[in-house]
Amino acid sequence: EKSGYEHFMLKEIHEQPNAIKDTLRGRIINDGEIVLDKVKITKDEIDKIEKIFIVACGTAYHAGVVGKYAIEKFARIPVEVDIASEFRYREPIINERTLTIVVSQSGETADTIAALKEAKKHNSRVIAITNVVGSSISREADDVIYTWAGPEIAVASTKAYTTQLVALYLIALDLALKKGTIEKEYAKQICDELKKLPERAERILNYKDELQEFASNHFNTKDVFYLGRGLDYAVAMEGSLKLKEISYIHSEAYAAGELKHGTLALIENGTLVIALATQEHLFEKMLSNIREVTTRGGYVLAFAMEGNKQLEGIVEKVIYLPKTMEEVAPIITVIPLQLLAYYMAVEKGCDVDKPRNLAKSVTVE
Ligand code: M6R
Repeated sequence: EKSGYEHFMLKEIHEQPNAIKDTLRGRIINDGEIVLDKVKITKDEIDKIEKIFIVACGTAYHAGVVGKYAIEKFARIPVEVDIASEFRYREPIINERTLTIVVSQSGETADTIAALKEAKKHNSRVIAITNVVGSSISREADDVIYTWAGPEIAVASTKAYTTQLVALYLIALDLALKKGTIEKEYAKQICDELKKLPERAERILNYKDELQEFASNHFNTKDVFYLGRGLDYAVAMEGSLKLKEISYIHSEAYAAGELKHGTLALIENGTLVIALATQEHLFEKMLSNIREVTTRGGYVLAFAMEGNKQLEGIVEKVIYLPKTMEEVAPIITVIPLQLLAYYMAVEKGCDVDKPRNLAKSVTVE
């Protein structure tokens, strides 16, 4: 069952290296070509697409935010990411030149199913990313990419998220290669990086003890702010959700550039701030945001790429992630955030696998 782990969540966090491997298996060939069996969309159809919607709820929505960055960067098609419960009621502008990607671990989330139907009603092709073979969403979509994460029992989603990211990167590359918007060599580099992720994810699991210790010193905190720019902002949202969902600690994620526009007023002596600084091209900007926080006495735990020592002495603590191309960094950056949320919840004595008020699958509105 739990294979010796105290909770399903911890077990599922540890299953991520294999889940990523399984989700990649057979889908990258000849070092840089993408094979997605159940995605039948042709080059002609792709060339006609003017806009993509990614629609999902909760963690799957956060995966979609990363997907937007990847698709826009590689395939140069505008992407809107929508929360399913908003999308279905706001008369989104959809037509046959729209592609809709729905993301759902369970494949049974009521709002996501309704969004899928709304998209189909307006003649949009629908690609589903789901973890459950034969689920409602897999049956109703035109194309399907399964995440091979295996059953996820804990209410807090972990391995579903990382494998959803893998699936979104594969779609982004597939679209880009078919459209001809990405250099073959660059696509190959991204593919190589994706293939290295299982081993890197494995290494990150070794930070467990450090994060557990951090949690044992900070679980009494009332609020936590997660900051990042670009892809780090997307991961910040997911880290924040994970923490509030299982530890009941109030937390918010902000695009670091927004600090000055209001949130900075909340930073005072000792406020815990998690700063994600994996994006090389945004590092200097992030650094000045971090300084805005430390100047006000904020207590900063930062995550940076191995080899970048610039935060030493500026923040309280830096955790170094195995060096990875920044384009795919979210897949590994999220793992220590999952562990942090987990240990905070354990320290607080929360029911980690079954947080209060929540259900694994939200099949009613
Ligand atoms: O099964 P789904 O992916 O459609 O579920 C979506 C959300 O309900 C889910 O991700 C939820 O936000 C998780 N409990 C977050 O950890």
